Amino acid sequence: PLDTSAGVALWAARYITQRINDFQPDADRPFVLGLPTGGTPLQTYKALIEMHQRGEVSFKHVVTFNMDEYVGLARQHPESYHSFMHRNFFDHIDIPAENIHLLDGNAPDIEAECRRYEEKIRQYGKIHLFMGGVGNDGHIAFNEPASSLASRTRIKTLTLETRRANSRFFNNDVSQVPKYALTVGVGTLLDAEEIMILVTGQVKALALQAAVEGNVNHLWTISCLQLHERAIIVCDAPSTQEL
Ligand code: GLP
Repeated sequence: PLDTSAGVALWAARYITQRINDFQPDADRPFVLGLPTGGTPLQTYKALIEMHQRGEVSFKHVVTFNMDEYVGLARQHPESYHSFMHRNFFDHIDIPAENIHLLDGNAPDIEAECRRYEEKIRQYGKIHLFMGGVGNDGHIAFNEPASSLASRTRIKTLTLETRRANSRFFNNDVSQVPKYALTVGVGTLLDAEEIMILVTGQVKALALQAAVEGNVNHLWTISCLQLHERAIIVCDAPSTQEL
């Protein structure tokens, strides 16, 4: 735990930088990083960009896989996760375009798209570090309550609670929030060598409690972290209120 969300962001950015630099990636052996969207990681992306600008880290040999993407939202829509990632991170660092992987929520064959994504991850061997956030209801990526803990990349129906929470990015109009998303599965996440989850704000207190003190269960999919040998939770003081 750190005092503030700014502290969380700095800790997370320093950790990612350290992991990349210790790994010393090259073209034949890239560092594979899993990435989230949402409000929580914004400050971390900002800190990483600043570290990159100061010459402390390069993403030339980093390969990324994003967690999820809305279904049916145009790629150019400002709230698509493609747009989010480019605007908030990729456009400001030296990562080659071909190293960036995002799910295509407009793919004509959704199942084939999900299979392609899993296959692509497998081609790299594994994800070295998966950074994520958590939903107010304890979802990890878009693995909504009642997702199988063995799940792989697939389409999920978003709960009304999640759509309401995300409506703040859609003019506070829940009807504009897509109803479906593609997401990596809980099983996909657990395959990563290491998972780092950022938790900030009192609104996440119940989710953090479920992650740390609850039993492992598919209603709070964040509880899957308890099954992982190398899971880190980076949280601020307000989010620890229920612990
Ligand atoms: C979103 C994303 C998740 C994210 C979570 C929390 O719906 N799909 O990956 O971790 O909900 O978002 P935020 O950080 O904005 O609270």
